[in-house]
Amino acid sequence: MNDALSQQGPVSGEAGTRGSWGSSFGFIMAAAGSAVGLGNIWGFPMQVGKGGGAIFVLLYLCCVVFICFPILVAELALGRASGRDPIGAFQVTSPATPWWLVGALGVTAGVGILSFYCVIAGWTLAYIWYSLSGAAGQNPPAFFGAFVADGGKNVFLSFVVLAITAGIILGGVREGIEKASKLMMPALFAILILLGVRALFLPGAAEGLVYYLKPDLREIANISVLNAALGQAFFSLSLGMGAIITYGSYLSKKTNAVGSAAWVAGLDTMVALLAGFVVFPVGFSISGFNPAEGGPGLIFAVLPSLFSSMPGGALFGAAFFVLLSLAALTSAISLLEVPTASLVDRGWRRGKAVLLMTALVAAIAVPSALSQGAVPWLAKVPGTGMDFLSLMAVVWNNWALPIGGLFISIFVGWVWGADKALAELAPEGKIFPGARLWVFLIRYVCPLAILFVIVMTARGMFAG
Ligand code: PHE
Repeated sequence: MNDALSQQGPVSGEAGTRGSWGSSFGFIMAAAGSAVGLGNIWGFPMQVGKGGGAIFVLLYLCCVVFICFPILVAELALGRASGRDPIGAFQVTSPATPWWLVGALGVTAGVGILSFYCVIAGWTLAYIWYSLSGAAGQNPPAFFGAFVADGGKNVFLSFVVLAITAGIILGGVREGIEKASKLMMPALFAILILLGVRALFLPGAAEGLVYYLKPDLREIANISVLNAALGQAFFSLSLGMGAIITYGSYLSKKTNAVGSAAWVAGLDTMVALLAGFVVFPVGFSISGFNPAEGGPGLIFAVLPSLFSSMPGGALFGAAFFVLLSLAALTSAISLLEVPTASLVDRGWRRGKAVLLMTALVAAIAVPSALSQGAVPWLAKVPGTGMDFLSLMAVVWNNWALPIGGLFISIFVGWVWGADKALAELAPEGKIFPGARLWVFLIRYVCPLAILFVIVMTARGMFAG
C-alpha cells in the first residue's frame, strides 16, 4: 500500500492528485528552500543578539545536532512511509488513535507562523526598493522605525507576499516549488559569502567576531536562552509542524533520505552562521550598536549601513533583498503547503484549499502588520510586554514547534516504532551509518531534552 501512495505520480494541480519531486537534487533544494529563509537571516542574528552572543550560537548548534537532526530524519521517514499530509501521516501509521492531533497542531502552527512571516517578508520586499532609492541607508534605524509604523503599507505588503505565495502553490509541486528553489538557493549563498568577506574588513569587525564566537560559559544554564535556541532550531529547520512530513510525502523511495536530511541541515546551518558573520561585524562597526536591542528590526537597521559603505552598494543591497525575499518565499510556500495539503488530502480541490487558507492567514496577519508602531496596544500587548508580532513568534516558534517535535519523536521512536522508521530509511535493507545512534537520540534524547526545556521554561515563567 505504501508504494501505491508514494509512487512518482503525475504533477498537477488537479483535485486529489498528489505531486512528487523530480529528482533528489530537486528535493534537497526544495527542502533547503523551506528551511533557509527569514529564520536564518532575520531570525538567527536577532536571537543571537537577544541571547547574549556566542553562547546562543553554541546552544543552537547543540540543539541542531542532537535534537533537530534526528527529528528531521524522523519526519522524512514518516512522510515518505505514509505518503500523506501531516494529519494523514499519523492516521495511516496509527489508525483510530488521537495521534492525528499532532498533525493538526502542525497545521495550526503553519497558519500561525505564516501570519507573521508574511509581514517580515513584506519588509524585505519593500527594502529592495528602499535600497535602490538609497532611502534605507540615510539613517537606517530611524528609517526602519518610520516604515514599519505605517500600518496601511505593512498590511498591503503582507498581502502581496501571501498572494505571490498562493500563486506559486497553485502551480503544484514540481513546477512551482522545485523550480523556484533550484535557482534561488545557490544565488543567495553566493551573495552572503561576498557580503561576509566585505564585512570582515570593516573597522568594528574584530569586536563583532568576538561577540559572535567567544561564548560566555557562565550563561550555559540560562534556561530562557536554551528555550530560544531550541525554538530557533526548530523554526529554522522547518521542523515540528509537518512541513518536512509533507515534503517527505512527495519523496521517491529511491532517494537517500538520511543523506538528503544531512544536506538540508548542513546548508541551513551554514546560511544561519554566515548571516551572523555579516550582521555582527557590521553592527559593531556602527557606534552605539547594542545587539540585544535589535529586535525584529535588527537586520533592517544594520545591513543598509553596510551597503551604503560599499561601492555599488545600492545595487548590492537591492540584490541582497531580492534574494532574501525569494528565500522567504520558498519558506512561505512550505508553510502554506502544509494546511493546503491537509485539505487536498481530504478531497478538496487544490485551488479552493489554497484560497481558503490564504484568506485565513491574511486575516490573522493584520494585527502583526500593525504591531510595529501603527497601533499602540499591539506594539505592547497588555500582560506580555511584547509586540504582537514577537508574541506570535514566541508562541509558535518557542512553544508549538518544540511541543510538536516532542510528540513526533515519541511517536516515531515508540508508537509507530523506530524499527519501522529504519525500514523506511533503508529500503534496500542497507541500514544507514549511525542508525543505532539515531534510534537512541529519537527515543530518549529528543523527548527528554525537549520536555526538560519546556518544563523548565514554564516553571521560570510562572515563578516570575
Ligand atoms: N525554516 C523557515 C525559515 O527559516 C521558516 C519555516 C518554519 C518554514 C516552519 C516552514 C516551517 O525561514
